[in-house]
Amino acid sequence: MATHKLLLLPGDGIGPEVMVEVKKLTAFMNAHGLGNFEIEEGLVGGCCYDAHKIAITDATMAKAHAADAVIFGAVGGPQWDRVPYEVRPEAGLLRLRKELGLFANIRPAICYPALAESSSLKRDVVDGLDIIILRELTGGVYFGEPKTITDLGNGQKRAIDTQVYDTYEIDRIARVAFELARKRRNKVTSMEKRNVMKTGVLWHEVVKELHAREYKDVALEHQLADAGGMQLVRWPKQFDVIVTDNLFGDMLSDIAAMLTGSLGMLPSASLGEVDAKTKKRKAMYEPVHGSAPDIAGKGVANPIAMLASFGMALRYSLNMAKEADQIEAAIAAALAQGLRTADIKSEGAKIVTTAEMGDAIVGEMKKLAA
Ligand SMILES: NC(=O)c1ccc[n+]([C@@H]2O[C@H](COP(=O)([O-])OP(=O)(O)OC[C@H]3O[C@@H](n4cnc5c(N)ncnc54)[C@H](O)[C@@H]3O)[C@@H](O)[C@H]2O)c1
Repeated sequence: MATHKLLLLPGDGIGPEVMVEVKKLTAFMNAHGLGNFEIEEGLVGGCCYDAHKIAITDATMAKAHAADAVIFGAVGGPQWDRVPYEVRPEAGLLRLRKELGLFANIRPAICYPALAESSSLKRDVVDGLDIIILRELTGGVYFGEPKTITDLGNGQKRAIDTQVYDTYEIDRIARVAFELARKRRNKVTSMEKRNVMKTGVLWHEVVKELHAREYKDVALEHQLADAGGMQLVRWPKQFDVIVTDNLFGDMLSDIAAMLTGSLGMLPSASLGEVDAKTKKRKAMYEPVHGSAPDIAGKGVANPIAMLASFGMALRYSLNMAKEADQIEAAIAAALAQGLRTADIKSEGAKIVTTAEMGDAIVGEMKKLAA
């Protein structure tokens, strides 16, 4: 069995608490022949600032470059609100994203049947939902230049953000979308606003041409991003993979997130380019939630987003789709037992701690592996 090098970066707040459950799961998988993980750990965020006066060290960055996958917890907290801007906890996360070249952000929105009642939408709209929002992460209006506020001298100021996309940036994210769809229900919906934006016109053109050239077997549709947002809450099950730019993706992925209930349930993956030599991609996996200082240290955080993020690492970096399916099934089974952490509690359910939820999921993995 191939050995997989993982770098765990638990971070701050509830990050280390939920990462403990990943360690439990990898230890179980190592012991039962379900995986062969070599694990290293490092500091990132506020805890790294306390130790080294910087949000991530060069040594940890080198380990991140060498790893098959980086598994990231969460960073930040009020105790670091006043540290210098360049070394604030989030700077560690941004450096990882930038230096690993993570341009593709995958956010699944999966609604486990046991949680369909916690969505703000009707049960039949979300029950069994399984879609992916694929967001371009390193280009677009968040990074385009010029990005300025100019004093016009007449009591007015002018703010400028610039939305820029080059062909290669659209091509590579669309490629990820088509490849993902091929392993799922084979449908891609591309969202932009070509009716009012030049970047939308180019986005539409590049996606369409790539599809015609290399991915004719995948169903492709185009929606204007505003209409797409409406469709996402009207009937989300019409989608499989939605691909969109950085700004629209930021918003649409948060909308999709709420279809499924709690922040504690949402995993994510960020992928870089395929290395021509090794054929591997740099990749980082992290829950969508932050360090939750309000509940940190109490042992009550929901570990499911973290465990599901690890599951995504198996699927997208380690070629272990079967084991990734097992983790998802184990999560669904633990929820179906009626176990809930406090954030997803419902009538008649049993409230459990972080560790108890982790144990239940590992227990279900054991049953599935038997
Ligand atoms: N990727 C990251 O590391 C990341 C992301 C977002 C926020 N942050 C940082 O985290 C800190 C707190 O930010 P915030 O409060 O806006 O967002 P948050 O996601 O940490 O928490 C928002 C709310 O959701 C709850 N919550 C979050 N994850 C949970 C889980 N797994 N189980 C149960 N409840 C959970 C929290 O208790 C809180 O009430 C800030 O310092 C912020 O900068 C970090």
